[in-house]
Amino acid sequence: MRIPKEIISEIKNKAPIQDIIGNFIQVIKKGNNYVAYCPFHDDNNPSLHISVDKQIFKCFSCPPENKSSGDVFSFVMKYKHLSYVEAVKLVADMVGYQYDFGDTKIDTFEETITHKIMREAVNYCQYELNSKEGLLYKEYLNKRNIDNTIIERFQIGYNPKEDKLYSFLSKKGYKDNDIIAASLARLTNNGVRDVFFNRIMIPISDVNGNPIGFTARSIDPKVDIKYINSTDTPIFRKSNVVFNLHRAKEKIRETKFVILAEGPMDVIAFDKIGFQNTVCSMGTNTTKNQLLAIKRFTNNILLAFDGDNAGQSAILKTGKDCLQEGFDVLVLNNDTKYDPDEIINKYGTKRLSEMILKPKTWVEFIIEHYKLSYDLDNYTAKREYTFKVLEEIKKVKNNFDKQSYINKLAELTGFNVAQLASGIIGNETKKETQRISRPTSSLQSGIEIAQKIILKQLLFSANNINIYKNQLGYLPNKQFDDIAKSIINFYDQNQYIKLGELLAEIDDSQLISLLCEIESDKTHCEDEDEILLLDSIDKVKEYEIELQLEKLQARMDNYSDENMQMKVATEVVELQRRLNELRKNRR
Ligand code: CTP
Ligand code: MN
Repeated sequence: MRIPKEIISEIKNKAPIQDIIGNFIQVIKKGNNYVAYCPFHDDNNPSLHISVDKQIFKCFSCPPENKSSGDVFSFVMKYKHLSYVEAVKLVADMVGYQYDFGDTKIDTFEETITHKIMREAVNYCQYELNSKEGLLYKEYLNKRNIDNTIIERFQIGYNPKEDKLYSFLSKKGYKDNDIIAASLARLTNNGVRDVFFNRIMIPISDVNGNPIGFTARSIDPKVDIKYINSTDTPIFRKSNVVFNLHRAKEKIRETKFVILAEGPMDVIAFDKIGFQNTVCSMGTNTTKNQLLAIKRFTNNILLAFDGDNAGQSAILKTGKDCLQEGFDVLVLNNDTKYDPDEIINKYGTKRLSEMILKPKTWVEFIIEHYKLSYDLDNYTAKREYTFKVLEEIKKVKNNFDKQSYINKLAELTGFNVAQLASGIIGNETKKETQRISRPTSSLQSGIEIAQKIILKQLLFSANNINIYKNQLGYLPNKQFDDIAKSIINFYDQNQYIKLGELLAEIDDSQLISLLCEIESDKTHCEDEDEILLLDSIDKVKEYEIELQLEKLQARMDNYSDENMQMKVATEVVELQRRLNELRKNRR
């Protein structure tokens, strides 16, 4: 089912882009329009512009290949890593637009004749693998530890003879031209013949799971060409397709990272041992389009190419591309010369799992990888090595990490830390101070500030959330209390706090903007600070006691009964005692 165009424009009309973006990040009014710090790159000026007239956004600092512009749905897709349909649904939700989307997963899908042929071909090859003729091939797969469950899961098949698949499709009534256009057959001197035969047939699907091509492996070691792939067809473009993305996408979202391998056999190997968040580009040349397809689901990529030279060099190139596209990059800690599939077969499952769970950071990889091409005993080479590594350290966002990489580089090269850090660490700190000195908002009462500090501290850590739960558990101001409850709810469900995701769960736009304001307010606290949190909790407690005291005082004045007056007086004394204790503690 598709979402009708009219519905999409109705939703869009009800969802001013400045409001929707403003729900996720803080937007600042500038003239008739709005600006914001761009969430898609490390922005130190508000470079993201929102045009109210045109209802579009555009970041003027994002690199052109990381296209940060478009309408409200493009923003939500990019910010929340969603598909178009999911973004439309979320926006509809955010503005309270009621519409029964039903099962709109395959939204813009239009089944073409090529799709139909591909589906038939996949079924046919699966059937053939299970026939007598397929036995040898099945044995080959089993020898590679690919059992029937995996064969089914990956829809692996086999086409025995040069004209079998073609004949089957012909008999089904498909025209030669269409079969040829699907890249399954070609015209030869002997008539129309299959492209793929005597090979294991592994279907390649689009992100919605529709088979659109094949990658086919020969099992004969004497055959020169190990794999052949579909050539481009109306629905298949190898350079745009990511193998296994349709199966992996949910797991990628769930685990919040993707493993990128070289080949389908490696994907299968990872899948087998529990890492179903693995995809590959079928070779070492991963294109920008493939990276963008992956980026819809996560920003965190772990490169798991082969341990040989080709694989490691490919990591260097792909890693740089990934960084450019805005990924955080980790590298499989592969200290062998083998590929992931071989590692399992040679060293066992545990070894590969460990390589994933203890990955190298990008800079760690760079430091080691470049070492192979430079002789660090030669001054000129060492200097060049240093510059190359520094180039990558520069891209690191976090100052602490930057500093520790510089220390490591200094240790390795004997160059001076301060010299290495000059021009790399400096800028960042200046940026930070500029941010702090932004003007603060109007007068705020002590109690309000205390509550804001508490809320901000809740966003920092589980520890702070626990302290708050145990020591206070509520906030006097209703709105602040609602925000605190949302934070705790979100944390209880996810065991982490991410502002973007948290905001998506809050319905009240006033609360959303309040939370954004608190989060971005750097005047009262900037970092996690347990003492400050405890202090603020005490302030709230004091405030509550003072309030109660006031009330009691008023009541006492109204009572004529001496007994009642005495009772209230005892309460007052007790409250006074608690107040004094709190005040003593704070000093
Ligand atoms: N490849 C290809 N054509 C070839 C060789 C390789 O398309 N002639 C692609 C395949 O997708 C392959 C990937 O590049 O999976 C990596 O190549 P390689 O490491 O040689 O193959 P493996 O993935 O190790 O495949 P296998 O384990 O089946 O040998
Ligand atoms: Mn292999």
